[in-house]
Amino acid sequence: MKIIGTFAETRALATGAVGLVPTMGFLHEGHVSLMERARRVCDTLVASLYVNPTQFDERGDFDRYPRDLDRDAAIAAAAGVDILFAPDDDEMYPNHPVTAVSLPALTDRMEGAHRPGHFEGVATVVAKLLAGIQPQTAFFGRKDAQQLAVISSMAADLSFPVDIVGGSIVREHDGLALSSRNIFIENRDAACTLSSALMTAADAYERGVVDGAELESLVVETVKGADVEYVELADARTTERLVSLDRPAFLAIAARVGSVRLIDNVFFSGSPLAADRGTNLDAPSLLYGQGDA
Ligand code: PAF
Repeated sequence: MKIIGTFAETRALATGAVGLVPTMGFLHEGHVSLMERARRVCDTLVASLYVNPTQFDERGDFDRYPRDLDRDAAIAAAAGVDILFAPDDDEMYPNHPVTAVSLPALTDRMEGAHRPGHFEGVATVVAKLLAGIQPQTAFFGRKDAQQLAVISSMAADLSFPVDIVGGSIVREHDGLALSSRNIFIENRDAACTLSSALMTAADAYERGVVDGAELESLVVETVKGADVEYVELADARTTERLVSLDRPAFLAIAARVGSVRLIDNVFFSGSPLAADRGTNLDAPSLLYGQGDA
């Protein structure tokens, strides 16, 4: 695996069908599952590693975001990545850019409403990665379900010749959705109530409950010890709030547990609609140490 800092060199080395897994590093099995999936269908697998300052709405969150290039390089190499694209700020944002990508219709709710400017930062940096690396396929986790909708629409609207693929959530053995920020969680029991609340709602859907407000209430009532910011049943493509679970959708939650802000969701897709609850690991994830091996 090569670690490369420029778009030009990455493009020069990436041949055949190029797959891209964009990340902000501090990799875990959620990223690895996307890399392994990409590896199976691509000739050259590029993973990007860049903690993008423009998508952080809180300076403190950006400053404390975990960073460890050696650890990430070892995990990416083991997952079959050919090129780890790790640019610096000058490569990503030369000359004080005046261009930004925004999708107000998809970002005025949920994460967009609670994190001003976040999705403009995400859409812009992903557009730059797609333009600069020119992959045929790019892979994103479904944990950031609204982000996946934003990126899919952005890529289609701007005519990027790329397939955007979403991968299922990977969870710790106790159900907590993997996130690089999990290492800061102090009250694990409270954090785990987010996923158990979503699973309670997925159980209810499987018993025939399709009313959006009822599913949302079930989640709100089941979460304990967390400050809930929102719970919403949203159309998977448009992110509009749904009255009834009658099309591809995700039931999303955002909550603060102590100083950590967590998001999670259960995705409903296919025909007939089925809940994608994600996959639980058997043992603690790479976030808790084995990545150093
Ligand atoms: O999901 C993430 O890690 C980031 O939002 C992404 C897509 C890499 C853009 O910085």
